[in-house]
Amino acid sequence: MLLNKPDFTGRVINLDKLTYAGNASSLDDVAAQFSDRYIFKQGDICDADFVASLFGEYEIDSVCHLAAESHVDRSIEGPEAFIKTNVNGTFTLLDAARKAWAGDFDNKLFHHVSTDEVYGSLGETGYFFENTSYDPRSPYSASKASSDHLVMAYFHTYGLPVTMTNCSNNYGPFQFPEKLIPVMIEKMVEEQPLPVYGDGKNIRDWLFVEDHNTAVWAVMQKGRLGETYNIGGENEWENIRLVNTLCEVVASEKGKDREYYKKLISHVKDRPGHDQRYAINCDKLKSELGWKQSLDFGEGLKKTVCWYLENREWIENIQSGEYRNWMEKNYKER
Ligand code: TYD
Repeated sequence: MLLNKPDFTGRVINLDKLTYAGNASSLDDVAAQFSDRYIFKQGDICDADFVASLFGEYEIDSVCHLAAESHVDRSIEGPEAFIKTNVNGTFTLLDAARKAWAGDFDNKLFHHVSTDEVYGSLGETGYFFENTSYDPRSPYSASKASSDHLVMAYFHTYGLPVTMTNCSNNYGPFQFPEKLIPVMIEKMVEEQPLPVYGDGKNIRDWLFVEDHNTAVWAVMQKGRLGETYNIGGENEWENIRLVNTLCEVVASEKGKDREYYKKLISHVKDRPGHDQRYAINCDKLKSELGWKQSLDFGEGLKKTVCWYLENREWIENIQSGEYRNWMEKNYKER
């Protein structure tokens, strides 16, 4: 976490619209511990006047742009929100920064957080490098690719000081239970079928969320302007193998037989245009900035499972009507 890093003495203004996946109470502890250095603002990154007013009110020197619609299945169901938030929202933030900083770019930075999905889908071999051609294949990845292009356009055209990171799949505490790992943990808790899309042979490269954070911070501090850095776990797993392992971790934590949850695994209708494999090469980040992953996957999964099993109140709070509608719709139709 940024606020308790010894080398960071600044202030954080957290701008969040608090849509379905946002939950201000996730940061209650941070707000209490850093009441003088943490400011929460609820608002929309597409609202140019509001964003400009924040630049006017606070002396903002760095923007770390993580705001996005990020769930592929939702982008298939309703792409419009993805274009609005990811494309228009990024444009609004970029333009607000450009205008507020008015050509005085000394000690300023706009950091854009993006995804490996902009590179498309890999076959059995190969990796995504920073110079791999963009080939997005879902409305989600296409919207992120558009935002990446806008960021680089602002660097080349206006000289806006930007850095960018493209990261592989994250997992860890506080992840909204629509993504694979928390969906599976929640389904196990409820003893419901574990919905594996298609044959389960799609491959993802998993990274613990805290390691993503340290990588972003390393790039914000030491990255070269106008550069992209790939961030990855170097940790590829077939979905079906991952779900089996997760079943064993949950069983062990709940004191059940090792095989107990595996009988719930259920192959369901595949996602349209389902990318086969993602695998990141993050040598540039490691060699240039000295970053490395801190956690092995076994440790990370155990930490994550324990967090979800111990934080039932957090889960119950986010299981709003909207959440229930989505689960019903996405999984009933498969
Ligand atoms: P997800 O967490 O949605 O991330 P992304 O699509 O951005 O990679 O999905 C990870 C993988 O797990 C992906 O191959 C789709 C698959 N998946 C399932 O098999 N079942 C599920 O219920 C979900 C949410 C995902």
